[in-house]
Amino acid sequence: MKTQKIEISYLEYEKEAELSTEDKALLEMARKAAEKAYAPYSGFNVGAAILLENDVIVTGNNQENAAYPSGLCAERVALFSASAQYPGVAIKALAITAKSALIAVDSPVFPCGACRQVMAEYESHQQTPVKIILSGLTGKIMLLNGVSSVLPFIFNGSSLTKKPV
Ligand code: THU
Repeated sequence: MKTQKIEISYLEYEKEAELSTEDKALLEMARKAAEKAYAPYSGFNVGAAILLENDVIVTGNNQENAAYPSGLCAERVALFSASAQYPGVAIKALAITAKSALIAVDSPVFPCGACRQVMAEYESHQQTPVKIILSGLTGKIMLLNGVSSVLPFIFNGSSLTKKPV
């Protein structure tokens, strides 16, 4: 038996102005999407913006429901919308942010486990890493390269297509 270790590196920016023009623009689109979230139950507005390989930007925001589990996170709204409208077009980057009238969102917002799994599905299919930009309303911004940076030990389709025993 031995202890194994994995390491995750990411870039940390003190403020939005330090981001590249492209990343800043994508984050701005996510911020605009968050404004339009339907989140009357949590008061937590999340916005996501996806930059596709064809340079189209698809946005999404959380959509809540009185029957709570029927709602959907901003990330999955954006990811499913991108795949529905542009099937097979690779995702270059995904920006996620949030705002709330109830709490200060002053650190990056992390995607939930289900959204990470959905991100992993598309990334594994396209075989190129998705750049992930995580931000709060204020505070530091994190930039990660690839879904494995937010979801180590991913279960993906290739686990199902290995040669039979
Ligand atoms: N939410 C997202 O949209 N994305 C996440 O990654 C985490 C949570 C939403 C779900 C719910 O509408 C609200 O935030 C509070 O949990």
